[in-house]
Amino acid sequence: MKTLKVGLVGCGNICDIYFQNCQKWSVLDIVACADLISARAEAKAKEYDIPKACSVDELINDPAIDIVLNLTTPQSHAKIYLAALEAGKHAYSEKPLAIDLEDGKKIIRLANQKKRFVGCAPDTFLGGRLQTCRKLIDDGWIGEPVAATAFCAFHGHEVWHPDPAFLYQKGAGPMFDMGVYYMTALISILGPVKQVFGGARTFFKERTVTSQAKYGEKVKVGTETHITGVMDFASGALGTVMMSFDVWDPHLPRIEIYGREGTIYMHEDDPYGGPNVFGGKIYFRRGKDSDWLGYPSQIPRKPKMTAWDEIPVIHGYNGNSRGVGLGDMAYAIQTGRSNRASGEMAFHVLETMVGFMESAKSEKYYKLTSTCAKPEPLTPNLPDFVLEK
Ligand SMILES: NC(=O)c1ccc[n+]([C@@H]2O[C@H](COP(=O)([O-])OP(=O)(O)OC[C@H]3O[C@@H](n4cnc5c(N)ncnc54)[C@H](O)[C@@H]3O)[C@@H](O)[C@H]2O)c1
Repeated sequence: MKTLKVGLVGCGNICDIYFQNCQKWSVLDIVACADLISARAEAKAKEYDIPKACSVDELINDPAIDIVLNLTTPQSHAKIYLAALEAGKHAYSEKPLAIDLEDGKKIIRLANQKKRFVGCAPDTFLGGRLQTCRKLIDDGWIGEPVAATAFCAFHGHEVWHPDPAFLYQKGAGPMFDMGVYYMTALISILGPVKQVFGGARTFFKERTVTSQAKYGEKVKVGTETHITGVMDFASGALGTVMMSFDVWDPHLPRIEIYGREGTIYMHEDDPYGGPNVFGGKIYFRRGKDSDWLGYPSQIPRKPKMTAWDEIPVIHGYNGNSRGVGLGDMAYAIQTGRSNRASGEMAFHVLETMVGFMESAKSEKYYKLTSTCAKPEPLTPNLPDFVLEK
């Protein structure tokens, strides 16, 4: 398999893990980097021994580059995708695909016209935990999935992100910044969504940065920061959703998936953990082991007879594997198969997220016009940074 040349645009907070991980994939080689702030690109080129730091235009039009990797803030995603595709490159971006449906449609349309691949984070659904959950469900451990929860609620990123203003504008907020991981995880496991119903509010109109570089700066909030809702999957399963940057320390599971015959619970010790990371614990409970079965006849209740079983994760990619979706796309480009973290799924995820906001405004269900195929599962026990021979 050939090594594809990658040009990285956006040398901010998330870029280091991409520079580090791309060095480990034999199919990827970052040969240039760029940023609006050229000193950032120059510093990263030096740090990671990248041959060229240049302007965004020069990078996108460099004939040696096969894939443009877009790590800019969400408000620039569409612009970079479209310029890269126009220049005949394949393009992969950090999440979300775009900040609105119009831009999302333009990206998918241009990629089809130019016959180029589009990929998009999050790729954490390719991590060990979510792939093992997918296998448990595909293998029938919980029977037919009927419901799921997706809860991600904390008090915002301004305590740690060095430059958090973009996280409170259109295209971010808890739904597009964090919900995108939860929507992608559930859609990759349960399949596409038919309709969503949502309520959305902005309970804090201004945020104060408490991370170091911009300590004390005020950020005007330009997006919804507390969203609740219902996801109605095409399969018939129902999801319950809460995404918030407005609440303090809730005691909610991040994701649970309920089947007719049992439940899968993804446990988090880390307050920032969830489907935004690759690894983590999985617990499973069979319906027939439930304490509830003997309840009416056993008062006072017996101590729990059967604990939840912790299920060993049997898939690779449990560390910070950001870029596995890009590695997968490099194989797909060369073999002609579909890529897993695909533009098609990212667009469906985008429409699901937009749908919650539209439903909140109209006070009616939002019916999705897009759909997507479930991405092919990964093989268990793959070593990291390899997907195919
Ligand atoms: N920070 C994280 O932990 C994290 C985690 C997962 C995903 N992400 C995603 O990664 C992306 C970047 O986030 P970040 O936290 O690194 O942001 P950041 O603000 O730290 O970095 C973004 C960089 O992109 C540059 N940039 C912005 N617009 C540009 C343009 N048009 N052309 C060239 N450069 C441009 C900025 O100058 C900046 O250096 C976002 O989409 C975010 O959702 C971030």
